[in-house]
Amino acid sequence: MTLYIIGIGLCDEKDITIKGLERVKKSSTVYLETYTSKLQIGIERLEKFYGKKIIPADREIVEKRAEETILKDAATKETAFLVIGDPFSATTHIDIYTRAKDAGIKVEIINNASVLTAIGITGLELYKFGKVTSIPFENKNVKTPYEVYQMNQKNGLHTLFLLDLRPEEDKFMTVNEAIDYLISIGLTKETLCIGCAGLGSKEYELKAANTSELLKKRFTKFPQCLIIPGKLHFVEEEMIERYKIS
Ligand SMILES: C[S@@+](CC[C@H](N)C(=O)[O-])C[C@H]1O[C@@H](n2cnc3c(N)ncnc32)[C@H](O)[C@@H]1O
Repeated sequence: MTLYIIGIGLCDEKDITIKGLERVKKSSTVYLETYTSKLQIGIERLEKFYGKKIIPADREIVEKRAEETILKDAATKETAFLVIGDPFSATTHIDIYTRAKDAGIKVEIINNASVLTAIGITGLELYKFGKVTSIPFENKNVKTPYEVYQMNQKNGLHTLFLLDLRPEEDKFMTVNEAIDYLISIGLTKETLCIGCAGLGSKEYELKAANTSELLKKRFTKFPQCLIIPGKLHFVEEEMIERYKIS
């Protein structure tokens, strides 16, 4: 029997690939990992389009109880494990992959778009991004995101900040909260930043401005992420001008 680890994309029920949908259709049990990202639609829309009942899988199920749930099912029947975005991007589900393999279960991966590629809409060259970093909700004594940014800047590279989220509590860090945090540990108010929200959806939001200007704006979609550009090529600058707040 096979465990299908399927990326379902960033926005809605129709972002799954044809191959992914075929594997969902032939699965007896379908899990959806619910704790690392958020679609623009609810689980009912997925269930209707896929024609399958979906079992929400929180961190506890995936990381601690997979042997008695997902992997137990996959040992005896076709089982799908759905991940928002791509299964191995930004949050990696390598752990469940290796645990399945170690248990002798066949695994098939179906990739999809990720926030790591969707940020291409900013016009920044993806190969000029440096290390990606995450800003946690509890960040009082946390310096790593700022240190990563400084290291990337030193090398002229762009920095992508992923922002903490707790979908089960409907709690998502905003671009503004991320900027407030970065200013509290040293970011200047003149730094050019790019805020992104709901990438991959038709109504995605993209705004560029210096930190103090961007702080006056609100993003309404979730999830959100923040980018601080490094050294810009003129083609990148031209693209930023299109969504820069003047
Ligand atoms: C831990 S990552 C999960 C990435 C997912 N596996 C993927 O491939 O896109 C989740 C974080 O990425 C960012 N993110 C994910 N999807 C996004 C989107 N559509 N628009 C903007 N930011 C997004 C947010 O900061 C969010 O908290």
